[in-house]
Amino acid sequence: MGSSKNLAGSLRTHHCGELRESDIGKTVTLCGWMNKYRNLGSLHFIDLRDRYGITQLGFEAFKGDINELRSFSLESVLMATGKVIARPDSAKNAGMGTGIVEVQVEEIKLLSLAEEVPFLPHGMVPATEDLRLRYRYLDLRSKKLQDILQLRSKTARNVRESLYALDFTEVETPILYKTTPEGARDYIVPSRVHPGKVYALPQSPQTLKQLLMIANTDKYFQLCRCFRDEDLRADRQPEFTQVDIEVSFPTLEYMKNLATHVMKHVFSLPESFEMKSIAYDEVMRDYGSDKPDVRFALKQMIVTDLFKNSAFTTFSEVASAKYGMVKATFLPTSMGTLARKDIDGLAEVVKPYGGKGVAWFKVENNAVTGGISKFIDANLLNALYEKSIEKGDGLWFFTADKNENIAHDCSDAIRRHLGKSLKLIDYDQYAFLWVYDFPLFDYDADANTLHAKHHPFTRPKDEDMELYYSNDKSKVKDVKAYAYDIVCNGYELGGGSMRIFDNKQQSRMFELLGFTPEDAQHQFGFFIEALKYGTPPHAGMAFGLDRLIMLLAKTDSIRDVIAFPKTASATDLMASAPSKPSDAQTKELGFKWLGE
Ligand code: AMO
Repeated sequence: MGSSKNLAGSLRTHHCGELRESDIGKTVTLCGWMNKYRNLGSLHFIDLRDRYGITQLGFEAFKGDINELRSFSLESVLMATGKVIARPDSAKNAGMGTGIVEVQVEEIKLLSLAEEVPFLPHGMVPATEDLRLRYRYLDLRSKKLQDILQLRSKTARNVRESLYALDFTEVETPILYKTTPEGARDYIVPSRVHPGKVYALPQSPQTLKQLLMIANTDKYFQLCRCFRDEDLRADRQPEFTQVDIEVSFPTLEYMKNLATHVMKHVFSLPESFEMKSIAYDEVMRDYGSDKPDVRFALKQMIVTDLFKNSAFTTFSEVASAKYGMVKATFLPTSMGTLARKDIDGLAEVVKPYGGKGVAWFKVENNAVTGGISKFIDANLLNALYEKSIEKGDGLWFFTADKNENIAHDCSDAIRRHLGKSLKLIDYDQYAFLWVYDFPLFDYDADANTLHAKHHPFTRPKDEDMELYYSNDKSKVKDVKAYAYDIVCNGYELGGGSMRIFDNKQQSRMFELLGFTPEDAQHQFGFFIEALKYGTPPHAGMAFGLDRLIMLLAKTDSIRDVIAFPKTASATDLMASAPSKPSDAQTKELGFKWLGE
């Protein structure tokens, strides 16, 4: 074989992307798929394709029956032997690695005849995504998807090497396990040996990696599969891969350095690269989201107080409500502007996030016009500009709601919409953020219940420890956590936290989350017990490998970067999974089948 990467004993001497001018005169054997066949009467050409490229085959020296070629269908697998020649100048293709040469075939063998394929993998024939997923192995023949698989393999290797360089140990953890709370539903697997009992597939190896720290592993990582039964989106799959990391005796600074180190390797960033840090409260204030796309500068402001006494009652009512918030976005004319119909269209942009509308006004040569301008006097205008980094002419947009989360979500939706529609985004850039000081909990004020914002093993900040033991949940909600996210271009690439390493603090967490002592014991008793026997302070993080590849491949669908992905409704269209268990299976497992 031509390349030193190949072992002796292959059917082929070269692959289809390999032959160059220097190979002219050699006799070679190529194997691949019939990508194209051109019959020009006296001249015949086949483009033979494999994962490495395409080589043109000519047939002027063919020893067999030329009519045989007509019986080969597109996507059939062929083996051709012949001599490498230079193409005539007029037929040279500079855009193709093998475009200078051609193989003059002496012998050709049909290895596998293809029936008519549902679509052609080079994309000339359009196919719906469902059809492509049903015949995923055909879609995967395309250069685009093969390139992504290679990128994925290379990235996994980069990640491993970056962590081996710091003396990390890769450890595999079980897939058949017990519930690991990451906020989604578990996938469960019935046990035959214990009829009526189930394993849960891990939502992440969270407790296991912490147990490895208790077990003196010191620096752990794993490229592991996680399973979460949750509503799917363009960047979510029910099973996905994490780069999972845990270390003993770190500081927060160490964790940020570690994340920076991994990102540098994965994104080939310069040695001087540093991640910008921003606290959770600040990121929410400025962007309305904890994972903003900061490839463009547009920021927002919280202006609730400015509207407390406004004659615009919609806003004054919101501003007086306990959890009400008014957010403002100022779009300076220098960044872009919107036509009236586009301003009106913003109501549709915020609707999916619970927004009831978008208030606005315009400033031109110090004059205020349009929208809610009659409620904006000179004092209010000055106060608004005082809060804004940008000054001058432009459009002001407002989202307001008695639920501050809705006000944030809507202002984030407007920002993302403006970023895209006004072409403010530099798509060549990777803009990273280290978001820290997350709240420990999400609080449901109506039900007076707390939910772990990251997961129940995250440590409250030392200065909030008193609050953590308060009996009033509406106060406990303000406890901050040693938790952080790594954000890039509007995606949460990874997240993690310093962990609770004191068993009483851990038991308190389960109590705050509403577990009875019996439930906590049943689900996590083994873990709380393990914390008793000498636990090092430890912390960790996990990156979504699929999301890393999505960014590197510059695609916005997670399905593109997974060899055999599931649809948005968590089905595998190729194998028709999930499927109904057989009667024998349900009987053996001790389950009664209630489905159709
Ligand atoms: P978290 O739940 O934040 O943290 O997950 C870490 C990262 O995993 C990716 N991710 C997903 N990717 C694709 N599809 C999904 N359904 C999906 N869910 C999450 C994201 C996310 O940032 N055990 C903790 C980590 C820790 O504390 O160490 C955890 O799993 O990129």
